[in-house]
Amino acid sequence: MSTTNDARFWDRSSKSYARSRISDQAGYERTLERTRALLKPNDSVLELGCGTGTTALRLAAGVENYLAADLSAGMIAIAEEKLAASPIPGLAFRTATAEALASESVRFDAILGFSYLHLVRDLAGTLRSIHALLTPGGVFISKTPCLGNMNPLIRVALPLMQMIGKAPYAGVFSAQELSGLITSAGFEVLGTERHASKGKDSRPFIVARKN
Ligand SMILES: C[S@@+](CC[C@H](N)C(=O)[O-])C[C@H]1O[C@@H](n2cnc3c(N)ncnc32)[C@H](O)[C@@H]1O
Repeated sequence: MSTTNDARFWDRSSKSYARSRISDQAGYERTLERTRALLKPNDSVLELGCGTGTTALRLAAGVENYLAADLSAGMIAIAEEKLAASPIPGLAFRTATAEALASESVRFDAILGFSYLHLVRDLAGTLRSIHALLTPGGVFISKTPCLGNMNPLIRVALPLMQMIGKAPYAGVFSAQELSGLITSAGFEVLGTERHASKGKDSRPFIVARKN
């Protein structure tokens, strides 16, 4: 399996993803509010794994420039349609990964990744690319499902779902392991929060800084 196959999976899922509802709207609003508080009006922001652009369209007006990128051209096409319907100056969408962007000279003050880090094949390598894409003192803000903290039945079902093409590649790690990997990539973890409005929250919101 490869990122090409991953892109195909997400291309196939893009229309239904665009139609799907946010499962915990109050938790999502809390994440947006906390993220907004960490961004400055003159920031240049990169969002990775932006999907159909829902979060980008909510956050971009508060900063100078906002590039929202995703592996899947299908997701980006839907995001661009939404942007055309409600234009926001400074917001652009692009089909790209962290690794591809890191090979260019572009740098950002803040990088966001929501429901994204568990989907990358080489998490340590992607975190190094994210570190390289930030200016010194820049922040990396993520919220990631940590399968290592979830019901073990999910870890049994996942390979079966993947075999029949119904689930994407997903890395299994705990919140503690993720925090350790972010630190190993050269970040200082400033804080971990839980934003779910109900139930057990296995999706830590982690704020890290490049020193
Ligand atoms: C679960 S969706 C989350 C979308 C959005 N961030 C949200 O919170 O609604 C995961 C997104 O990550 C993208 N993705 C998966 N692997 C990726 C990678 N290696 N680089 C960039 N994007 C990736 C998928 O195409 C998909 O749009």
